[in-house]
Amino acid sequence: MMAAATCLVQAAHAQVGDVKRGADVFAAECSECHSPRAGKNKKGPSVYAVVGRKAGELPDFKYSDAMRNSGWNWNADTLRRYVTQPRRALPGGTMKYDGLADANALEDLLAYLSSLK
Ligand code: HEC
Repeated sequence: MMAAATCLVQAAHAQVGDVKRGADVFAAECSECHSPRAGKNKKGPSVYAVVGRKAGELPDFKYSDAMRNSGWNWNADTLRRYVTQPRRALPGGTMKYDGLADANALEDLLAYLSSLK
């Protein structure tokens, strides 16, 4: 049943990632520093409901000036750009992560991040 539903969704939107696989990507790549839970910051800010949020807006996390002043809104495009190459996308940013190069893993991760709400 689940597999059939996933197939239908992917047929309708060729580029939609898989939430479950995205959770695995998140666990491997991001969870050292980010929690999906609201209000829980680690080395990085909580990514609960990050899609649709303004960059650098959580009041209880100390962001870099670069992030606070980026003027970004987190959506699929800005997340793709930042997560692929954080240092190049945001000079002066403090996320010590080299970037996620695998395009499929990135789409799965985006599906997972979009599900956090
Ligand atoms: C080594 C720790 C570390 C890892 C690994 C890491 N991050 Fe971060 N992340 C941070 C820090 C620190 C910041 C704050 C950066 C700043 O203020 O410049 C941040 C900021 C962010 C933001 C901005 C959030 C906001 O509130 O504006 C997003 C989105 C994000 N990270 C996503 C990810 C994703 C997705 C991954 C995994 C692919 C990841 N990060 C991996 C430490 C990390």
